[in-house]
Amino acid sequence: MSFRLQPTPAARPNRCQLFGPGSRPAIFEKMASSAADVINLDLEDSVAPTDKDQARANVIEAINTVDWGKKTLSVRINGLDTPFWYRDVVDLLEQSSDRLDQIMIPKVGCAADLYAVDALVTAIERAKGRSKPIRFEVIIESAAGIAHVEEIAAATPRLVAMSLGAADFAASMGMQTTGIGGTQANYYMLHEGAKYWADPWHWAQTAIVAACRTHGVLPVDGPFGDFSDEEGFRAQARRSATLGMVGKWAIHPKQVTLSNEVFTPSEAAVAEAREILQAMEDAKARGEGATVYKGRLVDIASIKQAEVIVKQSEMIAAI
Ligand code: COA
Ligand code: MG
Repeated sequence: MSFRLQPTPAARPNRCQLFGPGSRPAIFEKMASSAADVINLDLEDSVAPTDKDQARANVIEAINTVDWGKKTLSVRINGLDTPFWYRDVVDLLEQSSDRLDQIMIPKVGCAADLYAVDALVTAIERAKGRSKPIRFEVIIESAAGIAHVEEIAAATPRLVAMSLGAADFAASMGMQTTGIGGTQANYYMLHEGAKYWADPWHWAQTAIVAACRTHGVLPVDGPFGDFSDEEGFRAQARRSATLGMVGKWAIHPKQVTLSNEVFTPSEAAVAEAREILQAMEDAKARGEGATVYKGRLVDIASIKQAEVIVKQSEMIAAI
């Protein structure tokens, strides 16, 4: 193990990120009054090219006038492969109030992408005397993004969160899928004539979690497209939570409750974690480093696992 301590990510809830098109201002107040921890006003793929300028103006107006409460407020800008992104950054940084917490940069492919945006943001912050530094979040949604995920996670201290974007990722990888996240009909093992479905997103998710945890960034699961399929959403979100992700996107208000439910540790899980911590305290008092809890081994590593759950629940209780 390295002598370096693993950095701690931003201590704020990120169970659900609710998205809404910047071209649809009628839903901004509804987004603000939702139960999502993070709001993502979108300028990218949910906005048609002809609506980009108007959407940008709508979003700036909403940042400055809507009461967003204690939510983390983020705007998804356009990708660096488009002619729109520099104007997104310039107008947002020059015209929006300090209520804007972060910008989301889609389709990031290498650390230099973030260097470029950081340079522009830093210059505007200085020119305008902005006192609150804008944070970044990124979407890993291409072959290059996942191949360079570790250098991207380390690229800038502005980076606080990283999401997997399943649809663009699948397209970039040449995956034969059309669904956005979830079970894929053709991805199964066959055993004695029975199909056992596996998880085609697993590798990308664990690569993102490892890169994020190494560099103190929050790992987040992206969209689940079929918003009529609540059980499918729950199953995807539970897998992500089990792998270490802290939250998931909602592309429809229906998904906010589901995401909050999955990424809030249950009372039973918190109670068990506290019992494990107590069992280890008792063991320590006896001079032991390991003990038995409900018939299974718990040791010093179990303290860290239990603390993840207790800390998460305490942070959510403090909202
Ligand atoms: N945030 C907050 N409220 C929303 C919302 C959102 N993203 N999407 C819909 N609503 C509201 C609607 O205005 C409606 O409100 P009402 O009951 O007061 O009339 C209610 O929720 C039910 O909406 P519904 O009719 O089921 O959906 P819709 O047809 O209006 O919109 C989508 C469906 C998918 C087009 C819309 O949810 C959407 O644009 N989602 C975000 C897409 C996005 O940002 N994608 C980029 C990231 S992948
Ligand atoms: Mg995308």
